[in-house]
Amino acid sequence: MDGFSHTPVLTAGVLDALAVQTGGRYVDGTIGGGGHAGMILVASAPDGWLGGCDRDGMAVEAASRRLAAFADRWEIRRGKFESLGDWISMGSVDAVLLDLGVSSPQLDLPERGFSFAADGPLDMRMDDRQEMTAAELVNTMAEEAMAKLIWEMGGEQKSRRIARAIVRERGVRPLGTTAQLAEIVEQVVPRRGARRHPATRTFQALRMAVNDEVGTLRRGLAVAVGLLRPGGRLVTITFHGVEARIIKGFGDAAVKSEVPTLRWVRRKSLKPDAEELEANMRSRSAQLRVLEKI
Ligand SMILES: C[S@@+](CC[C@H](N)C(=O)[O-])C[C@H]1O[C@@H](n2cnc3c(N)ncnc32)[C@H](O)[C@@H]1O
Repeated sequence: MDGFSHTPVLTAGVLDALAVQTGGRYVDGTIGGGGHAGMILVASAPDGWLGGCDRDGMAVEAASRRLAAFADRWEIRRGKFESLGDWISMGSVDAVLLDLGVSSPQLDLPERGFSFAADGPLDMRMDDRQEMTAAELVNTMAEEAMAKLIWEMGGEQKSRRIARAIVRERGVRPLGTTAQLAEIVEQVVPRRGARRHPATRTFQALRMAVNDEVGTLRRGLAVAVGLLRPGGRLVTITFHGVEARIIKGFGDAAVKSEVPTLRWVRRKSLKPDAEELEANMRSRSAQLRVLEKI
């Protein structure tokens, strides 16, 4: 075990959607632990190629170890998928995969600070070279802006009260840990036996802001389409409504434009079946969509 464990979601659907073939050229913009990437290399053997990236250094290391057996058939660089055009030629790729959101190690390792389940520093950075952390955000952001963020990115109805409680608390002592933040949220949104922890939505919103997930996705989609050859496919897996709306809006605009540049292969999402849900609870909100370049 190399300590990095992430179960890839919708595996059969991904391979089918990417239309992987022997000798094809593929890009995985969110390589994570290399689960999907390994399957792409197997399906495109003996001479398919894969370019991959991740902004998380741990993921890049884990994926590189996992794909070592495929020797010369891949290249992985650390960085955001919006920068893939810096090293992969435009119009040269058969399919691009973006499996958005967080990896299991990001959630499971307390020191990464993404989770309320175990106490850790309030960090949430996918890329630890970045300066802004969740702690900095909650300790400096104006109350109204924070309420807006928690509402818009988390869909949390009690966003104003949560933001007010955070601002009140940080006036007493700065927020520094995930447990401290989870406790503040829990005081405003009591558990009442709910299945989800009351801080889930707030943590999601802060994570999205710390990592500029909306901005990087919008910029990344345009780059991903640029990488594709005509007939090439863009396959996305989203995990919440904000991401899904961005994908649908992006696809619809390109499909309906005066000179369409994309067509939908699958706009209505593919979701995990009962068997996958049973085996991997974290797949529960995964939605796969497919666009094809014209
Ligand atoms: C759900 S995981 C991917 C798992 C991967 N498909 C596998 O099979 O192991 C999402 C990954 O995307 C990365 N990520 C998120 N946004 C990114 C971005 N803008 N650029 C590059 N990587 C990003 C995260 O660091 C995380 O490792």
